[in-house]
Amino acid sequence: MDAFQITGGRPLRGTVRINGSKNAALPLMAAALLTQEPVTLTGVPDLSDIRNMVRLLESLGLKVERDPGGGEASGDGNASGDGRCAMSTTDPTQTTAHYDIVRTMRAGICVLGPLLAARGHAKVSMPGGCAIGTRPVDLHLRGLKALGAQITLDAGYIVAEAPTDAHGNRRLRGRHVFLGGTNGSTVLGTANVMSAAVLAEGTTVIECAACEPEIEDLGRLLITMGANIEGLGSPKVTVHGVKELHGTGDTTGGHEVIPDRIEAGTYVIAAAITAGDVTLTNFPTDMLGAFLDRLEEVGINLEAEGDTTNPGSRDTVRIITPRRLNACHAVTQPHPGFPTDLQAQLMALLTLADGNSMVTEKIFPDRFLHVPELQRMGADIKRIGPTALIQGTRELVGAPVMASDLRASAGLVLAGLAAKGETTINRVYHLDRGYERMELTLQQLGAEIARVKMDGV
Ligand code: EPU
Repeated sequence: MDAFQITGGRPLRGTVRINGSKNAALPLMAAALLTQEPVTLTGVPDLSDIRNMVRLLESLGLKVERDPGGGEASGDGNASGDGRCAMSTTDPTQTTAHYDIVRTMRAGICVLGPLLAARGHAKVSMPGGCAIGTRPVDLHLRGLKALGAQITLDAGYIVAEAPTDAHGNRRLRGRHVFLGGTNGSTVLGTANVMSAAVLAEGTTVIECAACEPEIEDLGRLLITMGANIEGLGSPKVTVHGVKELHGTGDTTGGHEVIPDRIEAGTYVIAAAITAGDVTLTNFPTDMLGAFLDRLEEVGINLEAEGDTTNPGSRDTVRIITPRRLNACHAVTQPHPGFPTDLQAQLMALLTLADGNSMVTEKIFPDRFLHVPELQRMGADIKRIGPTALIQGTRELVGAPVMASDLRASAGLVLAGLAAKGETTINRVYHLDRGYERMELTLQQLGAEIARVKMDGV
């Protein structure tokens, strides 16, 4: 298996362009199941989760053509090509999302709503748990049942049927749906119910809808495909069902996936933790309010070119880091709160701050697998239930550590960049799920990092 070897202590310097968002692209790609016409996206990142989604869509009767996007890295550390992904239906009779593909990628669940709405039937493997804790899909199923779907569980598969309408067609029915769970809203659950509701008969009102930018992006694509949706970005989304959707992309050049706010936040911390001088382009300032607020508390600021207050602006920002970092408190929450997907990275930074910090995880209360690994590197962290108390230390020391999930791995890379000596991060396939060629980008910023093969780990 691949590992990263990092010799820490080099300040990063240079410019990085933020890629398109993985978590936006996955449900956008699944939305291509909603129409018989071609759908084209641009800015789709080249990641293993995306390649798995391509396999899944192909198994569901779609032809998918991708701009390699993964050619030679260009001067700014990113892939050439515009990440084009053109999808068109060739066999609309396929309705089974098999275990062998869905088990590799939890986001496989987001084909459920589109299949059910467009093909009247879906059989989707239950995605199961993962390293960051139990990941139930009860809210997805509750929402789809509210729209009239008959749902049963059969040998590890969710089997869903749409009801028959007055004309003998299988079609969901619009309803009031409350999608709140004990930990707030659900991102992919909202994607599923919204994608299903666009073709339902009548109006669906989704309450406690996820407000994440990735859901807004999905709504925007669905609207360009002919859907009628109001309230995007708010917790109350209203969908007036239409009979059919059309394709998109032929004349417009394709729907452009929003920048990856989590990749952006990770590179901000990479700059800060190495006391470097990094400029980020295609930076989605408008999606990172809570994160940037916490960083300001730590003493890290952004020097921006132009006006970053326009919603949807894609900014060029330079990261300004002080000599010493302040401690801070952060609580992860649904958007616009502090994102759980940046919790491990922030924690890595706070291990080097002056004083005591506190990080509370409210979305996935067990998402702390990076803690024992950071402790191996000399971090002083105590976990009490969903809260980690971090006492800042003068330096981290390189050590062999194990990546356990995507964002925990990113936290370890950041710690390794700052640590004294060599850090080996095993099992970086987790990182490849969500960061496009991270080691090349970091190398171009001056980091001493290499991908190596390790036997037996
Ligand atoms: N939940 C339920 N029932 C459900 C669904 C969710 O109780 O039916 C709970 C979860 O257990 C969790 C909370 O609701 O406590 C939020 O989970 P959510 O459904 O919002 O998570 P998700 O949609 O499965 C997406 C991202 C995650 C990100 C979360 C939270 C994708 C592909 N995944 O997951 O991203 O952490 O939202 O923002 O969009 C990552 O990129 O590393 C990643 C894990």
